[in-house]
Formats: sequence, structure tokens, C-alpha cells
Amino acid sequence: MRRLWPVPEQELDQEGLLAAYPRGERALVRLNMVSSLDGAATLGGRSGGLGSPADQALLGLLRAQADVVLVGAGTIRAEGYLGPLIGDALVALRDAAGLAPHPRLAIVSGRLDLDLDVLTTSPARPLLVTSAEAVVPPAFAAAADVVRGGDPAEMLAGLREHGLGQVLCEGGPGLAGQFAAADLLDEVCLTLSPVLAGPGASRIVAGEAAMEPRRLALAHTLTDGTHLFLRYRRP
Ligand SMILES: NC(=O)c1ccc[n+]([C@@H]2O[C@H](COP(=O)([O-])OP(=O)(O)OC[C@H]3O[C@@H](n4cnc5c(N)ncnc54)[C@H](OP(=O)(O)O)[C@@H]3O)[C@@H](O)[C@H]2O)c1
Repeated sequence: MRRLWPVPEQELDQEGLLAAYPRGERALVRLNMVSSLDGAATLGGRSGGLGSPADQALLGLLRAQADVVLVGAGTIRAEGYLGPLIGDALVALRDAAGLAPHPRLAIVSGRLDLDLDVLTTSPARPLLVTSAEAVVPPAFAAAADVVRGGDPAEMLAGLREHGLGQVLCEGGPGLAGQFAAADLLDEVCLTLSPVLAGPGASRIVAGEAAMEPRRLALAHTLTDGTHLFLRYRRP
């Protein structure tokens, strides 16, 4: 990866990348999404076709910096999320930083129409974030900690009760839209893919939640030669 801004053409190794995407000094909600050039969040119903090997590597690093990876059930159903979120090298990196070996996976769902294997194959005990009234099947309650939270502020409060302050939200657009509307995104990490997807797909935020337009501050622009990696912060 090369940095285009603020220091032009500076090659970044893993240490440099980690410094470019640090853990927050306080609780932090970081949204990481990929978009096509024309604003699509998916190709053929999934985000993978928009990424690149560097995008996948960066996703791993962002996960390695987080206490918890927060994901909407729609994304879990579309993308899978079976097994560990990070590989052994990043487990070692977390170990060296004094963090738990794996970030925890927190799945936001009202209907709880989920594959139990997503919970049971997670190496760190996962969390289910659901409404106050949802009836959690016993097998799910045995496999995960249940957080009751109907809106993003309640979700974050519930995660903090588990000591999880560094939140990487991986979407999807429905969940991201609620966090954006609630003004609870401290950072937006956006991979811009060199693809014209055409009309039809969702944008990276979606849903009904109304919001005032909000301006963020550009922290940096990186590139792997094909994709742009943009990091924006709350001003
Ligand atoms: N471009 C990218 O970076 C990116 C990133 C992630 C995903 N994606 C793509 O986006 C698509 C999925 O996105 P999506 O917007 O349809 O789904 P989503 O945001 O991943 O998940 C929406 C689901 O989350 C649950 N949920 C959301 N808010 C809730 C709340 N306040 N309380 C309880 N449950 C809540 C509901 O689950 P239940 O239905 O279970 O009740 C809802 O149906 C997939 O195609 C995926 O590939 C793209």
C-alpha cells in the first residue's frame, strides 16, 4: 500500500498500516465498507467482488484492532461469517498488543433467523444483539451472550457492559444507516472500488432512518494501485 495523502508515495508496511488505523483512545465506532465507483454496496448480492487482496488484508487489520465486530443479520446471511474473523498472524499481533486472541463477533438480529454454526464456529464467544422482546432459542442463548438493544445507542451500551469499547461495524447498509442516522459513527473507512456496477444495488447506507447530512474530515488516502482506501473521522 502507498499513502497518497497526507505524505505522498510513502510505502506502508503492516506497522505503518496499523499506525494509520489505530485503536481509539476512548470507545470508538468505526464503519468499514466497500463501494463501487457508482455507489453500489454489492455485486451480485455480495460485497466480495468489489474488494481486492489489499482490501481483505486491511479488513483483517481493522478486525485485529477491534474488541468486537458488529454485523447485521442480513450480511451474516449473505456472506457467511463462519469460523475465525482473523488468521493466526493477526492473532499473534493481538497477543503482542495484550489483546484477547480474537475479536468477538456481535450479530444484530430481530428475527434470529441465523445459522447456529455461525455462533458455534466463532473462536471467541459471540454476542447476539436483539430487541427486548425477542425470544432467543435456547441453543442460541447457550452459544452466545445476548445483548438487548433496539437502537444503536442501546447496542453500544450493551457491548460496553461486556467491556467491548472498540467497535468495528462491517454493515450491512441497513445497520450502517441506523448508526449514521444516530450520529454514532466516529470513523468511516471506505474502500472505493474501480468498478461501475450499474443501477440497482443498495448504497453503503440504506433504510428508513432520516438524518441531517453530516460532514466528516479526511484522515488519509491510500492505494494499492487499483482501489482507494479512504479514512474519514468525526471532525
Ligand atoms: N459494501 C459493503 O461494504 C457491504 C458490507 C456489508 C454487507 N454488504 C452487503 O449488504 C447486504 C446486506 O445488507 P442489509 O442492509 O440487507 O442487511 P444488514 O444491515 O447486514 O442486516 C439487516 C438486518 O439486521 C437486523 N437488524 C438491523 N437493525 C436492527 C435493530 N435495530 N434491531 C434488531 N435487528 C436489527 C435485522 O435482522 P433480522 O432480519 O434477522 O431481524 C435486519 O434484517 C448483503 O448483500 C451484503 O453482502 C455490503
